[in-house]
Formats: sequence, C-alpha cells, structure tokens
Amino acid sequence: MCGIVGILGREPVAPSLVEALKRLEYRGYDSAGIATLEKGKLTRLRASGKLRNLEEKLAASPLQGTSGIGHTRWATHGRPTETNAHPHTSGGLAVVHNGIIENFRELREELTGKGHVFATETDTEVVAHLVGEERSKGAAPREAVAATLARLNGAFALAFLFEGEEDLMIGARRGAPLAAGWGDEGVYLGSDALALAPFARQIAYLEEGDHVVLTREKITFYDAAGKEAERRRQPLQAGSFLVDKGNYRHFMAKEIHEQPEVVGRTLSHYLDLSAGEVRLPFALPFDPKKLSRVTISACGTAFYAGLIARYWIERYARLAVDIDIASEFRYREAPLAENGLMIVVSQSGETADTLAALRYAKAQGQHILSIVNVETSTIARESDTVALTLAGPEIGVASTKAFTCQLAVFASLAIALGRARGVLSEADEKRLVRELAATPGQMAAALAREAKVEPVARDVARASSVLYLGRGGAYPLALEGALKLKELSYIHAEGYAAGELKHGPIALIDYAMPVIVLAPPDATLEKTVSNLQEVAARGGHLILIGSAAAREAAAAELAGFIELPEMSGAFAPLVYAVPVQLLAYHVAVFMGKDVDQPRNLAKSVTVE
Ligand code: F6R
Repeated sequence: MCGIVGILGREPVAPSLVEALKRLEYRGYDSAGIATLEKGKLTRLRASGKLRNLEEKLAASPLQGTSGIGHTRWATHGRPTETNAHPHTSGGLAVVHNGIIENFRELREELTGKGHVFATETDTEVVAHLVGEERSKGAAPREAVAATLARLNGAFALAFLFEGEEDLMIGARRGAPLAAGWGDEGVYLGSDALALAPFARQIAYLEEGDHVVLTREKITFYDAAGKEAERRRQPLQAGSFLVDKGNYRHFMAKEIHEQPEVVGRTLSHYLDLSAGEVRLPFALPFDPKKLSRVTISACGTAFYAGLIARYWIERYARLAVDIDIASEFRYREAPLAENGLMIVVSQSGETADTLAALRYAKAQGQHILSIVNVETSTIARESDTVALTLAGPEIGVASTKAFTCQLAVFASLAIALGRARGVLSEADEKRLVRELAATPGQMAAALAREAKVEPVARDVARASSVLYLGRGGAYPLALEGALKLKELSYIHAEGYAAGELKHGPIALIDYAMPVIVLAPPDATLEKTVSNLQEVAARGGHLILIGSAAAREAAAAELAGFIELPEMSGAFAPLVYAVPVQLLAYHVAVFMGKDVDQPRNLAKSVTVE
C-alpha cells in the first residue's frame, strides 16, 4: 500500500507532488512527506497524520526544488510518526517506497555492522543505506540502485532522487505497481494513472522486475535482467480520472448514489437488453460444457461478492463452486481440478493475496478470469480473461459501487455459463436478464428511501455490538453489512447465516444488541422470518430490511424497519446492498467518524 510519486519539472514541484498525493491518499493516509532538490541539495518535509498536516507545514516553509518525490503512507514497519514517514535519506539520496522489504532485518544488521546508523523503525530505510553504501564505493546512481535491487526480497515500488543530480530520478518495480509518465511540464513516476492524470499525457507501466531512469528529456526502461526495454506508452486523459465529491459530503456518499448509473453501465456492457440476452464482451477461451469446477478467491468485500455469486453460479450454471479468502487459499495447497476456472475478484486489481491466489491457480493449470475495476492493474494483466466492472474510480476506502458492479458481472457470467452449458433455456435467460436489468432502477428506488435509514442509524450508533442476519444471497450480504459497520463506525458487528443463529449466537440476544435482519423476497423468506421471530421471542432489538410483505409476515415488534420495494428475489442482493451501505454510512456520519478514510485502513492492500 502507500502511494508514491516523483516529478522532474521546470517549476517548483511541491504543489504538484501534493496534488498527486491527494489522489493517492486512498492507498494510505497515516503520514506523508516530500523531498525536493534545491541547488543540488535534498530538502525534506514530513508530517504524521493526514496530508493536510504536510500541506500546513509546506505553507509555512515552501520547498522550492524542481525535482521531487513524495509519499503517502500506510504503516507496515514502524508507527506512523513523522520520523518514520518517507522519504528516507542516507548518503546523499532520498527514497520513497510502497511495499515490504522482507529481509530488512538481516540487511539492517549487516549495515549496522558496517557503521550505518538508522534513524527510523522502517524497512525502507535499509534501501536508502544500501544505495548510499554502493554510492560511497563509487557506483553511479543507476548501478547503485541495480545492485541494491538484487539484494532485496519482498514487494516494492521505489523512487529515488540523488543529491547533485537535478536531472535524474530512478524508479523500480517488483510486486507493486509503478508507472512513468510524459507531460508538457516534465516527466513523472507514480503508483497509478490516477496520481499522474493531471500532469502526464502519456504513461507506461513498468513490468515486473523493471527499473527506469528518468531525465527531463528521456525515460529509459530496463528489464529484470538489466537490459534496455521498450514499454508500451498509452495516452492518459485527465478528464477520465476526475476525483471530485460533486455535491456530496463524502466520496462514499457519492459512490453509493452513483450505483444505479454504474451498475447500469456495467450491465449494458454484458447484456444485450433489446435481445434479452447476455452478450459477454470477451470470448471464453474454453468450452463451458467441459468446465469441471469454479474456484473463486478474493479479499474483504470482493470476497463477499464471490460468496453471493456462488449461489448464482451453482443455481444457474449447475457448476460446483469452491470459494476461499485469498490469504488462506494461497497457502492451502488446494488441489485444483483439470478444466477448472479460477475467478479472482478485486476492485484495485493490486491486492497482494488475491494476486498470489491467481498465480497459484495459474501454476495449477486453471483458466484465470478476473473481475477488476482497474483495467491496467497487475491482476488484469496476469489474467487470461478480464471482466471489467465499469464503476469508475472508487475513492472512498470502503468499497460500495465496485461491489455492486462485481455482482452485476457475476450475475451476467452465471447466466452466460448456464446458457452455454444448456442448463438455462432461452426463456430462462430472457427472464433472468429482464430481472437483472431491473436492478439499477430498484437501486434508485432504494436510494430514494435514504431518509428512512437515518433514524435507524441513530439507533444503531448507540450500540456497542450488532448482529446482521440473512439467508441465501443475503447471508454474504449480512457479512458485508457487518464489515461496513466495523470499518466505518468501529462498532463491533457480526454477520451470521440466519439459520445458524440457534446453534450459538442466539445466546447473545438482549435488547442492547441490535439484530438487523435482511429479508429479501427469495425462497428462504419464510425461514428468515421464523428466525426473526426467534429473536423477537427473546426480547431482541430487531431491525428489518425488507419489503412491506416481509414486514407483515414478521408480525413482531420492530425497533426499526427499512422498507424496500417489491422485486423478484433472484438478484435482490444488488438492491439490498444499498440500505446496508447507507446504514453503515449514516451510523459513521452520526458518530462523527472519518467516513472516507477510516482509521488503520488503506484502499489498495499490496502487502500480505
Ligand atoms: C471493505 C473493502 C475491502 C476490500 C478488500 C479487497 O470495504 O473495501 O475489504 O474489498 O481490501 O480489495 P480489492 O477489491 O481492491 O482487491
């Protein structure tokens, strides 16, 4: 995680570095810093906490250099103090780093033995000392960096500046993304296209193991073997990466409200609405009839999208689905069946564990299909087939619109596989496509009921623990609801399969703990209502999210009710996600929490 940026410009670069860091803040936001070269000397400013603390320092003492690097941090080694904030310096150079240097303890010991004195608790500082050590032995900057890279284990993207070298910046990539960019005002390095969008007209991504040397006139790429290499330049349109809250108070609110539009856009990419068919925008390079099994792996909210999809793929395509969180799957050594399809799901396309799961499955001969929101991401590039979610940049750290777009893609895929395998008839396909195509409108109707969520949020905000219940596709949604509450409001919450309640958690029921029941109109509704009544019979604090019919069937005293319109149950999780997200959002706003940047989190988790 962490975001890095570097600029060789013509004017002082500090303001642009800060602008790029704002666009990277989603990658980490517990401290930030920049370094520039002024008359050949490194000047550095760093601050703990949010980027605005660094901005205040810069306003008081501006940095004037026209070459600079910057960093926004999500701490892995060492607390988020100013001392531990990047850039780190040693021996006349400064470095910023995203990732983890796994062998930093051995390297630090070795360097300490040689007389190096370390100022920070970070893993990154060893990189500065190693390059400094090479420089002191007479190595040129690029040689010193290359020699250092050979000694590092782990995942990293790095950017370096050297004292006395105003027209030089070096970057390197192994396991964490890095792009170089060409613009009218200079040349650039950045963790992603979003950071460089206001400045660069063209970018090229470094490939695994690459390093790159930038001067204002030229950008030269070197591959893992140290040979000069060509990397594909692609145009970058500033307008396509607008990072703007519009009229909303938070990015999360904007992104929740964008869902009818972006889910609609994603569906129109996968469905031919006039024909009432699924039309995948890619050819499946395998015969769906011969597929033996589907494996799904992902992390967090993307994993819950996969859990919901399991119900659809099993039901509509009659394919067995095995699903696991990526951090477990990657080490499970699971035997994978021949002719198996591996689906990895990731908004960022950079999540380290999900990428490792992909690589494991690839080595086992699985066909790899990824559902990603970032087309240029590492996961997309390493997949055989890429199914894009057209959610647009998601800035709020808690995933919302990417999640529902992942569901939209999964639903389309399940129908397509079902049809191709001869499980679904043409009429089934038409009915399912019609129901799926209705979801954006139903999401809009759910959003229109936001005012009903607020009083429920006030009630939930008083609790110290919350239980979410659901069955079928609403069970993973209960897990997602609990995750959203935890991460945004820091209230302990758990999601449970409603039918599992009586096997333990029913012991928790008392009026102090809200029990939120998700009761969409599917085949399990009656059973869910029975579970709700079990909670009511024990004096539980019940909140129901469901239709008027579910409310009537519940026939119990409710502390809160969020009513959703009647709909067909097949793809209800897309619609029921909306009140679940709104509830977590309003609880957090009501409690005064930092909705877009909850404590301890980062948007793109590129460490294990
Ligand atoms: C929670 C959330 C995370 C991510 C997870 C995976 O709101 O956003 O749980 O879903 O870190 O991230 P991606 O989808 O980028 O792989």
